[in-house]
Amino acid sequence: MIGEKINRFGEEIKHRLVTDRHRQQQILLYFCAMQILDGKVVSKTVKDNIKERMLFVEEQGRKIPHLAAILIGTNGASETYVASKVKNCAEVGFKSTLIRFDDDVAENILLEAIENLNRDEDVDGILIQLPLPAQINEEKVISSINPDKDVDGFHPFNTGKMVQGLPTFIPATPNGILMMLEHYKIETSGKHAVVIGRSNIVGRPISILLGSNTYPGNCTVTVCHSRTKNLKDICLQADIIVAALGIPGFLKADMVKEGAVVIDVGITRVADAEKKSGFVLKGDVDFENVAPRCSYITPVPGGVGLMTIAALLMNTFTASLKK
Ligand code: GUN
Repeated sequence: MIGEKINRFGEEIKHRLVTDRHRQQQILLYFCAMQILDGKVVSKTVKDNIKERMLFVEEQGRKIPHLAAILIGTNGASETYVASKVKNCAEVGFKSTLIRFDDDVAENILLEAIENLNRDEDVDGILIQLPLPAQINEEKVISSINPDKDVDGFHPFNTGKMVQGLPTFIPATPNGILMMLEHYKIETSGKHAVVIGRSNIVGRPISILLGSNTYPGNCTVTVCHSRTKNLKDICLQADIIVAALGIPGFLKADMVKEGAVVIDVGITRVADAEKKSGFVLKGDVDFENVAPRCSYITPVPGGVGLMTIAALLMNTFTASLKK
């Protein structure tokens, strides 16, 4: 069947002079049987599942899940993420509250706002969009969130539970990655996963989760970071690579083994005068050249970013059930 398809496609190519670069790339992708891990498709499945559960919530007159987000300053990327989180809450029928502060907000004002949200019985989930301005102690702020409302899963109490494999809120981006691997039934057991980046938001938790005795999981995990020597050699041994370092186009084709699964967590705004917005979103992977080597790869945009929001919604729903 595939052979027939390739033959037909080959015949078609013989009759056509292919000069266009993009078209050449498409042909390459076609032959290498690489599959895109489509964040649009998987996040829709997750959101449809939530919407179905919401029908039951409404039918039973149960509490509507309520997410409160705190946004500090006017960082363009943070604005976009939070706006998208709020919009997605509405889409699945959740309540949301957005609280904004100026860049120079004092730490005690922020802590007071968090305490009010902790006490507010109607609020199920609290999210403080990161990064925070320099005058704010991130650790203090995150630790002040009631762990039962910590839908980001960043509170040390919840991190500890995650490390021990106990039920808790799993941070949204790593959880979104797991949902993707599961959706596409990608085998992870016994595979060598290389995680590039060791942030509390992505690198550290995904390395723990992929190494856990679960599915997706049971990987042998190597965590790489800015001090890692022989990064290229290590990446070349990987069956699964999670690129989460925030450097656009960092992972090149000569760092990736044929048939590897590549998960691109990067989402950096890169200036582009030709775009109306003035920027394009770039992942940590040199997609055009890496994709032909992969068995599966996530695009940017349209990959992990969408999954992060879907996973956050699921955590908020779970938090509301605790009431
Ligand atoms: N900044 C980048 N990613 C995240 C995230 O998942 N949650 C929060 N709160 N801030 C972020």
